Amino acid sequence: MDTIAVLDFGGQYAHLIANRTRRLNVYSEILDSNTPAEKLKEYKGIILSGGPQSVYDENSPQCDPQLFYLGIPVLGICYGLQIMVHKKGGHVSSGKIKEYGFARLNLSKRKGIFEDLEPEENVWMSHGDEVTSLPEGMEIVGSTDNCANAAIADFDKNLYGVQFHPEVTHTDHGMKILDNFLKITGAKREWNLDKFIENELEAIKKKVGDNNVFMLISGGVDSTVAYKLIQKAIGTKRTYGLFVDTGLIREHEREEVEEAYKKAGIENVHFYYAGDKFFTHLQNIYKPEEKRKIIGDTFINVQKDTVETMQLNPEKWLLGQGTIYPDTIETGGTKNSDKIKTHHNRVEQIEEMIKAGKVIEPLMQLYKDEVRQVGLKLGIPEEIVQRHPFPGPGLGVRCLCAKQDDYPENYENMQSEINTYLQEIYGINGQILPLKSVGVQGDSRTYRHPFLIKLHKDLKRDWGLLAKISTDITNRFSTINRVLLLLHPHGVIEKKIKPGYLTKERIELLQKADYRVTQFIKYHKMYQEIWQFPVVLLPLSLNNEGGESVVLRPIQSEEAMTANFYRMTWKWLDELVEGLEATPGIDGVFYDLTNKPPGTIEWE
Ligand code: XMP
Repeated sequence: MDTIAVLDFGGQYAHLIANRTRRLNVYSEILDSNTPAEKLKEYKGIILSGGPQSVYDENSPQCDPQLFYLGIPVLGICYGLQIMVHKKGGHVSSGKIKEYGFARLNLSKRKGIFEDLEPEENVWMSHGDEVTSLPEGMEIVGSTDNCANAAIADFDKNLYGVQFHPEVTHTDHGMKILDNFLKITGAKREWNLDKFIENELEAIKKKVGDNNVFMLISGGVDSTVAYKLIQKAIGTKRTYGLFVDTGLIREHEREEVEEAYKKAGIENVHFYYAGDKFFTHLQNIYKPEEKRKIIGDTFINVQKDTVETMQLNPEKWLLGQGTIYPDTIETGGTKNSDKIKTHHNRVEQIEEMIKAGKVIEPLMQLYKDEVRQVGLKLGIPEEIVQRHPFPGPGLGVRCLCAKQDDYPENYENMQSEINTYLQEIYGINGQILPLKSVGVQGDSRTYRHPFLIKLHKDLKRDWGLLAKISTDITNRFSTINRVLLLLHPHGVIEKKIKPGYLTKERIELLQKADYRVTQFIKYHKMYQEIWQFPVVLLPLSLNNEGGESVVLRPIQSEEAMTANFYRMTWKWLDELVEGLEATPGIDGVFYDLTNKPPGTIEWE
């Protein structure tokens, strides 16, 4: 099959590029950035991904310079453009202004990969370095206000470079650019999901051989589709599904899953309550990565114990997992990517099993949208396939833990600097919160503070303006990676961390809030247009009653690599907040106004 090589320099979007080319029906593979040119000869085109480093950094990912002389079309994206320039004798230096977010691209030529574009295009930037002199044969084709060499080309040799990211949906005509590139490569459009299923069924049979597959199932889209696919390949009797109730699942989750599986014809699934084990191991833990590791390890231990109790011979059983592409990249799964967080299906014990060839992950190549389509093709009903994604560690990543107030150094000056700016530009102010959440910026993980803004009564509530304020704050003030809107209570708030860990009581409070929210958005028919709706519990008391706060984090996304916060109809939001206010134990309600990047979807 005609194939495109995507060389991975560690960018968060490397796999997204591969996903996009496949959506354009050309098969693509992710390869190590250093793959020798000799091997790359087999491919119809080469795309160089972005990456978190600078080309001059010690140990920064490199590539074989000969690949530019193979006569195969090459497209360099972000770091990929910079490495192309660097290897061909041009120069890259640290940009004066770091650019994250939308930019206007002015094109001087509209041919090659830029054919049929507008003279001015909206593009998405995420970079610090920039090209300052071009190699021989390459010319500037497009610029933005902050980046003179935003698009470059050697049209004769079919070498192209773009500083922005055509693979993310925020770049309006990104798909057109990739489509043009594929056209130039001459690759045949042969890839589709029917073919994927056909190949995968064969691959599963081959990998499993005479063995059986044991799989932990969460009831989510990924594990359900993976289980069904495996069941279809080797039959019901040789698969054993186990739903572990970690105590960190949603309210009524078990009953809903049982019901749905019955409808989907998914069989041989067993249920087991292990909440007490999880809560015991999680006592006094508050760091996100530690929480994840403990949840992941406990999961595996529960699974091992069950296998022992069931007397399944480990030599005869493989472990099935519903791992999908973003899961592997965000763990630093590809060699050059920065570690953003540990995915629970990528903890040490699983890694060892993978090395021993004991794990089967049939959806490893796919993104969520593709998994959903595969699910439908396998006859899984819409109500499961369209379920919001729910992370493996469950409410564990939505229940923020902290032992004391955690402010940035020099916090009062910093807060007053932000407020002076906000007052002057927007006539509002806010507070830095004494805790941190995970975020992602320019391909790297951040662990920074949220800023809570307050609107006074006379200010019109306008999502567009709030979005602008949010981006402005996170771009301008590097201590901040999230911006929240205070919905309840109004007026001045006292805020104090109430030491909080992952306990049954806190999870039950979060379950209540989460259930209320889910029912509410289903009732008001918002469920489908919201991609995912984390409800996050913060150990933050806002009055003397000692309750906690809740963050509403509805987002829209296509594949979770980027996301926009959802703009809920204000009338409904007021109604929802009223319901939450009335929940005993909830002091405050905030709305997360942060896109991804710079925030992640989950808070951790
Ligand atoms: P972030 O928070 O990084 O999340 O923007 C991206 C997507 O991944 C989901 N997620 C997980 N899914 N196991 C999963 O199966 C996990 O450990 C995990 N952590 C995050 C998250 O809900 C979002 O859809």
